[in-house]
Formats: sequence, structure tokens, C-alpha cells
Amino acid sequence: MNAQDIRKKYLEFFNERQHTVIPRAQLVPHDDPTTLFTGSGMQPLIPYLLGETHPKGNRLVDSQTCLRAQDIDEIGDNSHTTFFEMLGNWSLGDYFKRDQIRWFFEFLTEDVGLDPERIYVTCFIGDEARGIPRDDESADIWKELFTGVGIEPKVVEIGSQADGDAAGMQDGRIFFYDDSENWWSRGGGLDLTPVGDPCGPDSEVFFDFGEENHDANYGKPHPASDSGRFMEIGNQVFMQYRRTEAGFEPLKQKNVDFGGGLERIAAAAIDSPDVFKISLVWPIIEKLEALSGKAYQQNTESMRVIADHLRAATFLAVDSVKPSNKEQGYVMRRLIRRAIRFAFELGVEQNFLEEIVPVIADVYHDDFPEVAQQRKDIIATLAREEKAFRQTLRKAIKVFEKDILKMQDEQGNSSPTITGGFVFSMYDTYGFPTELTLEEANQRSITISPNWKKDFEAKMNEQRQRSQTAAKGTFKGGLAGDKDIHKKYHTATHLLYKALRTVLGEHVIQRGSNITDDRLRFDFSYPEKVTKEQQEKIEEIVNQAIAKDYPMSWQEQPTDEAIKKGALGAFGDKYGDTVKVYSAGFPGEKPFSFEICGGPHVEHTGQLAEGSKTFVITKEESSSAGVRRIKAVLR
Ligand code: ALA
Repeated sequence: MNAQDIRKKYLEFFNERQHTVIPRAQLVPHDDPTTLFTGSGMQPLIPYLLGETHPKGNRLVDSQTCLRAQDIDEIGDNSHTTFFEMLGNWSLGDYFKRDQIRWFFEFLTEDVGLDPERIYVTCFIGDEARGIPRDDESADIWKELFTGVGIEPKVVEIGSQADGDAAGMQDGRIFFYDDSENWWSRGGGLDLTPVGDPCGPDSEVFFDFGEENHDANYGKPHPASDSGRFMEIGNQVFMQYRRTEAGFEPLKQKNVDFGGGLERIAAAAIDSPDVFKISLVWPIIEKLEALSGKAYQQNTESMRVIADHLRAATFLAVDSVKPSNKEQGYVMRRLIRRAIRFAFELGVEQNFLEEIVPVIADVYHDDFPEVAQQRKDIIATLAREEKAFRQTLRKAIKVFEKDILKMQDEQGNSSPTITGGFVFSMYDTYGFPTELTLEEANQRSITISPNWKKDFEAKMNEQRQRSQTAAKGTFKGGLAGDKDIHKKYHTATHLLYKALRTVLGEHVIQRGSNITDDRLRFDFSYPEKVTKEQQEKIEEIVNQAIAKDYPMSWQEQPTDEAIKKGALGAFGDKYGDTVKVYSAGFPGEKPFSFEICGGPHVEHTGQLAEGSKTFVITKEESSSAGVRRIKAVLR
């Protein structure tokens, strides 16, 4: 069964079980300026998981195109891609563990035809201190299913991934892990679950590619090991709790949120641990082999990067993104440029997107009518960007030559040494491929510092941290620009968020924000109208915070630490490893507000009162079901 068949079969399977097939959401979430991309199947459904009524009913199924740009530099191994499809089915307060687990098992073993012997599963071990029981219910269902196909359902208690690396398989079939593996929230495990978020234990399904794929550097084999032997092909989240300041409280409705990578299930179906071998990707690799005259076997990493990036860029074009220097367009530009650079390393130096994008479009032609309809525009968008980039490259060669002459002068030497810093600045400023810099240097008999690689990587790391912060800043800071009034409204937005949570409760979560010269707008989850009295109270709290003249300060810190310390974020946001956290408060005291954000802000909250202004709510209305919208001004 190929990937296209699996997608079709999955939708049919759940449709036959009373699920409505819903269309994929676009890669760029509309109505939500706080998130760059749709990164999981559940993201567009958050309001419904929190209790809103979905117009299509309480059983839904789809295949959601997803993009995870934070992984861009990691692509090249056999199972990660920036772009992928997540098969998803949901129960919104309808069926729960039993139906979910038995259906997914049936789908995998009977429809896709996976050998049940090669399927291993995990469940949540429980957390006594927080009163969350061990998920014996899921484990018991799995036991019955494995027994039913003649497999001994031995249960093994593991704990963390590291515990598993030490303890190994122990002939287990069903494995209990702690919250670092089997608890799902958008932040991660129990402590990392953002306050106000829905969350729950999950049961994951792994496919065994065999001992020959186990890398012993990872310790002993077990399903949640990163050793290459096991691949996660599905995650069934039993979303039944909400995180509160005090702990975890049951949600009004028990939901199922299932997500499974189509590419990975398809890889399991053809028994290939390499997802690039599946029918959605392999034609791209074959085209690259033809264009370069080189084999995938010897050029695996470059070909994977190119295939991944161009698939992602193609779908961004399908969803109307254009390459630019901002937000989604910037990510698209980076994807295309990286693909071109890696192609250069393969010896493909001519324009090639006009040849390869049609191959990608063909792969999706029958199943995504929007790809077929926009075929010409998609190819043109990518080909145009390629042409522009090649011009930039030519300019970069000139800069290279000029800089070398300057160095020859400065170093008083006709053969100067170039450093990692120089290689990096060519790469970073002009997008000049590292390989090219080295080659240009070689051709001119210019020495390259033996430490260049280390220096280069150090710069890269610095840069990556900065760009992760900047990516975050793009949607909050970026909206605000640098104008003074925008900074003021931006700071006012933080104060308002805190005030809303103080007055309405901690389940208020930011759902959107927008600033113009004349007002701020803030969308947040809340089921009912905010009364006049509540609005007055909120205004009073914000105006008090302005009067206190709190200094605004920020700190870059690891994302998990920031969330653990209670930093507020916006619902659905995906963060990098580190984030910038803004505080409004006096040094040494608990800050009034503490929020993940790219800035910029005023220096003191008192600046919001300049010209004797006060904070006034001008409008309170419904934005969509379960989401309220407030507009406010300083006047
Ligand atoms: N929401 C779950 C995930 O992304 C299914 O893994």
C-alpha cells in the first residue's frame, strides 16, 4: 500500500465509523497572528477540544498538512521532515480509549497490513503526587488486542527514556513511561504544561524496524529510544485534564486527539526506516538523481534536504505564501535557498526548480485539487525566487573577491588566511554556500584557518538562538514595529492579558493580538460576555500597573524553564529552545506580568500615561465561538 492509498483508506476507515472528513487547514493559520504555521493536526481544533461545538459534529477525521520550521537545520536523518501530513481523528466528548485504541490497531494491522508482531505500544505510568492515575485502562485494552492476535502482551515498567536505555526491552510489548514520554500538552510533560491548557496521558504506537537498525550508542533498545530501531507512527492523546495554577482538573468533556505521521506509516508499510523512500517523496529523489547524475546512496543527506525543503516550499506556494523577508515568506525563502545550495553541492548549478517542482505537483495532483489548479503559479513562484537567488550569488562572488583583496592588503600577504568568521559572514550575509567559499579560496591558493569549522559552528549556534528569538518576535514584535505608540500598545497588551486573568480567571488564554496606531486588539478564550463591571475592574488594574511605573525588562531563557516559572504565552504557539521573556515589575519582586514575547516594549509602564492618558476599553465583542475580543486605547 503506498502513501496515497493509506491516506485515502484512513479517511474512509473513520468515515465509515461516523467521522466527518474535514478539509485540511492551510499551512498559514488565518485569524491567528500569533502562530506562523499549522504544526499539528489538533492546532486548528483547539477551541473544540476546549468545549466549543464543532459544526461538523463530535467525530472528525482529516489529513492535515503541517510545517515545523524550527526543525529546518535538523533535516537530513531518515525520519524527520519540516513538511509532513498528520493523519488525525478526534472525539469531542464522544468515544474514548476503547474505541480509539481498537480502531487504530485494526486500521494498522488489517487495512495497512502491518505485522502486529512489529507493533509496540506505550502508556502513561501515572503521577501519584498530582493524583493522576496510571493508565491501566489503555494498557488493558492493548492486552486484549495483542492476546487476540496471539501475541504475549507482557507489560514492562520503564519510567524515563534514560531508564529505558539502561533497562532495555525485557521482552515487553506494552511499556509504561513517565510524563516526559506519555503525557501530552503543547508544552510537553506535566511541569511543562502551560497553565490553562488542555492535556492528558497518551498512548503511543511504535513500529519495529528490527535490531539491525539499533544504534548501540543509545544504550539498550526500547520503543522510546532514539536509536533508529523504533519509529513512532501514532499518538493517541486522551485529553481529559486542564492545567490550573493548583494542579490538574478534569475537563468537562473527555476528548481523543489522535495524530499519526502519514509519511511514517507509509514507511512502515514498505518496511523502510527511511521515510524518503515512500511514494510521496521518492519521485523527487529520482528526479534529483537524474539531474545530478549522482546516486541517492552516496548523496543521501543533500538529496533529503532538497526533497524536504522543496516539498515544504511547494505547499507554502499552494497556500499563497510568497518568498519575502518577513514571517512565513522568510521561512519559504530560507527553504528554497537552502535547497539550491545543497543542489550546488550535488553539482546542479543551473536553474532546476522548473523541472523539479512539477514532479512534486504530480505527486499531489489527484488528492489535492488546489495543487492541480495552481500548478502554473506554484512553479512560477519558485522559479522566480531561484533566479533572484542566483543573482545574489553572483554578487556575493564579487564581494568575496573584494574582501580577499582587502585581506591581502591588511595581512601584507598575497595569500591571506580566511577564518571561520569570514566563511560565516559570506554564508549569513550573502547566502553564499560554505562549500563555495572554500572552493573559491582553494582556487586562489588562499589558506583556510584550521579552526574555521569550529568558529563557523559557534557563529551558527549564536545565530540560531537569535533567530529562534526573532522568529518569535516576528509575530509579536514584528507586528508592533518600532513606533513609540506601537511599543506602548504592545506593553499595554501585556498588562491587559494579566488583568484579564486576574479578573476572569486563569483559563483565559491569548488567541490573537493586533496593534495599529489607534488601538490594541486582543482575542482570548472565554465563554461569555465580559460584563461592564468586569471591564471596569480590568481597566483599573491596568491603570494601576501604569501608575506603579514598573520597569520593563527581558531575559532570554530556556523555554522549559520559562514555562515552568509560569511565563504566559499565546495558545498554539510553538517555541524554539530558548525564548525571550518580558517582565513588568521591580527587580527582586514577583513581576506583575511575565510573558514570552519578542518585544519591543517601552522602558517603564509609566510611559503609557504620557500626556495624561489612561487605558480605556472601547469595545468588547465575540470574535468567534468561545473567543472574546477586546479593543482598547490610551486616551
Ligand atoms: N496532538 C498530538 C501530537 O501532536 C496528537 O502528537
